Amino acid sequence: MINSHIVVLGYMGCGKTTVSSKLETILNLPSIDLDQFIENELNMSISQIFDTKGQIEFRKIENRFLEILLNKKTKSIISLGGGTPCYHNNMDLVLKYSKNVFFIKTSTEVLSSRLYKEKSKRPIIKSISSVSELKNFISKHLFERMIFYNQAHHVIDDNDNGIDSVCRKIVSKLIL
Ligand code: S3P
Repeated sequence: MINSHIVVLGYMGCGKTTVSSKLETILNLPSIDLDQFIENELNMSISQIFDTKGQIEFRKIENRFLEILLNKKTKSIISLGGGTPCYHNNMDLVLKYSKNVFFIKTSTEVLSSRLYKEKSKRPIIKSISSVSELKNFISKHLFERMIFYNQAHHVIDDNDNGIDSVCRKIVSKLIL
């Protein structure tokens, strides 16, 4: 039993969704990915929402669905979108509703090589054409976002030790 949601956040490509599904098995708790929840509720992909409604509208939708998830009585593992903590009052909401907020910190090098292969699915980076351009973009973007990410209760350094090590660190720090 747990009496506060577990929230996993971090930049695109840091492995939030994978970590959350692994934690789901280890802790026997439901895991919910905010982007997937939005896609299911609106019956549209995140890319379609960006294309048809624009980013400002997406951020409003994201804020609304985050609040819905945090308000659910059943405690769960919630993985946020990479930008979620940085818009509206999202980070305040997360910290209000959860005592277990984890930032998975991953290096720019690892993120850029992972994201380059799957950038077409991600509206924020899809038009970037080379790995070096992507690396520059991520390093600036990450710097701007760090002020929000660092408000998490715990920073889990993923020094490329893999998902299992990240999960073990999270489990050892949980407040039940
Ligand atoms: C975004 C990250 C994405 C998704 C959207 C915007 C961002 O989530 O919410 O494309 O601003 O970093 P993932 O981090 O799950 O890819």
